[in-house]
Amino acid sequence: MGWTRKDILHMEDLKPSEIQIIINTAKPMKEILSRTVKKLPTFRGRSVYNLFFESSTRTRTSFETAAKILGADTTSLAVAQSSVNKGESLLDTVRTLQAMKPDLVVIRHSSSGAAHFLAKELKAGVINAGDGQHEHPTQALLDLFTMQEHLGSVEGKKILLVGDILHSRVARSNVWALKALGAEVVLVGPPTLLTPEIKSWGVKTTYHLDEELAGADVIMALRLQLERQKAGLLPSLREYSQLYGITAERVQRTGKKTLIMHPGPVNRGVEIESSIVNSSQSVIEEQVTNGVAVRMAIMYLLLGGGTNHVVD
Ligand code: CP
Repeated sequence: MGWTRKDILHMEDLKPSEIQIIINTAKPMKEILSRTVKKLPTFRGRSVYNLFFESSTRTRTSFETAAKILGADTTSLAVAQSSVNKGESLLDTVRTLQAMKPDLVVIRHSSSGAAHFLAKELKAGVINAGDGQHEHPTQALLDLFTMQEHLGSVEGKKILLVGDILHSRVARSNVWALKALGAEVVLVGPPTLLTPEIKSWGVKTTYHLDEELAGADVIMALRLQLERQKAGLLPSLREYSQLYGITAERVQRTGKKTLIMHPGPVNRGVEIESSIVNSSQSVIEEQVTNGVAVRMAIMYLLLGGGTNHVVD
């Protein structure tokens, strides 16, 4: 099957075959990352614009790195110094960018649906780098790539997503991706962050982490958005950590060599014990490396790389 999509907006509408094409394309891209000279001429003269209206370390840097390795020119809109601060609307910002003829636009925005809106307006391909509480598809794809590297297929594997499910775009995207590939997903968190509507996602939900540890192949801790505590959604960080923190003792109780994952940034000692972050079972840094490879793969496919040669 060839690649036909112009944009990557959500995991919810990606077919399993499309997910696998992206991951299969990421494998040779990862090999390029270990070369001394990490530069291909593949997309020389093509332009990628990064629009990050929210903070980011991993996603923004990895998109820029990925585009540069593929030979594309990158432009990053410095939002704080842009005309957005003079009241320019997102639509007018987009029309201005369109006039500069970009080939790809990567956007992170606090509003759910921002990437979808852009994709309708732009001739360029659009990649959602996180839209509000909605989705973060490239994170789910790099998470899947990492899981597959260690577990082979995720089909039938028990995968716990733990923490602030309610506000997590990473959780949403991972649920759609993992469900599509046949994993057994369990969402774990306190009642205030695991509200009844989440049951409509069609996976198991529970407030009791300790009851789900046995047999877990993956534990993915989610960032606890500390502002939620101020909003009264958590009694205290100490209590949260006692009930939902990923500790060495809890990891041992899985009875398996469970993979420990986290999308970052990590609040050490809150959602995950500091020693676990750097333990042999942690793949948190591999997730970051795989983020570059997956984003290279996505850009390669959206820019029509199927007709080019990746490796030379
Ligand atoms: N995982 C993730 O999206 O991290 P950043 O916010 O640093 O991009």
